[in-house]
Amino acid sequence: MIIKYLGHSAFYIESNGFKALIDPFLSGNPQTKSKPGDFKDISHIFVTHGHGDHLGDTIEIAKDTNAKVISNFEIINYLSSKGIVNVHPMHIGGRVKLDFGIVKMTPALHGSSIMDEGKMIYGGNPSGFLIEVDGKKIYHAGDTGLTMDMKLLEDEKIDIAFLPIGGNFTMDIVDAAKAVEFIGPKEVVPIHYNTFDLIKASPEEFEALVKNSKVIIMKPDEEYHI
Ligand code: NI
Ligand code: MN
Repeated sequence: MIIKYLGHSAFYIESNGFKALIDPFLSGNPQTKSKPGDFKDISHIFVTHGHGDHLGDTIEIAKDTNAKVISNFEIINYLSSKGIVNVHPMHIGGRVKLDFGIVKMTPALHGSSIMDEGKMIYGGNPSGFLIEVDGKKIYHAGDTGLTMDMKLLEDEKIDIAFLPIGGNFTMDIVDAAKAVEFIGPKEVVPIHYNTFDLIKASPEEFEALVKNSKVIIMKPDEEYHI
C-alpha cells in the first residue's frame, strides 16, 4: 500500500485498484506541488468535513474522474447540488462494506460549514474515517480536539493513524500524544501543522511525547509504504 502525504490533511492512498484521496486540499495548499489534474484515475474521495482546507478540490477531481465521494449526508447533498453523481452518504458511527473494503465514519469535535460563493452552508457534523483495505486499517482523524471517544478506537487495532497536531483549530502536540495513547495505533503520522501561521507545531516535539507507537514524520509529497 502506498501512502502519499499531500501536505496539511491531504493523502493519496493506493492499494491494488483502490486509488483514494482523503481531504484533497491541493489548490491553495502551500505544502504540496500536486494539482487536482495530477489525479486522473482516482476511485474514491473521502471528505471529513466542509471546511475549505479539507473539501478542497473535491468537486473538480470528482467531476474529472467520476470517483465515488464518501462524506456525511449534508456534504453529499451539497456535492449532489453541484452535479456530483457518484456519491456515498453516511454518518457518524456508521460502518459499511464497499467495493474496496470497509469504512467507518468516526466522530470529530470541530465545525463543518461549507463556504459557497460567500454564503455559509450547513455541512453536518465533522468526522474522521476508519478505512480498511487489503488487511490494513487506516484512521484519518479529520480536524478534532482530543476526545474520550478516541479510547473506543483502541479495539480497532489500527495500523496507521493520521492525527492533527497543529493546535488552535485542533489538538496540539500534547493532546495528540494523549490521543495516540488512547488509540494505540502501530504507527502515527502527524498532520494539520505548519500550513498556516496559526497552526505552527514541531513534529519532532510531538514524536518525543509519543510512547508505544512509531511516529512517521512525512514531508509533503513524500510516500510511505505499509
Ligand atoms: Ni476544519
Ligand atoms: Mn482544517
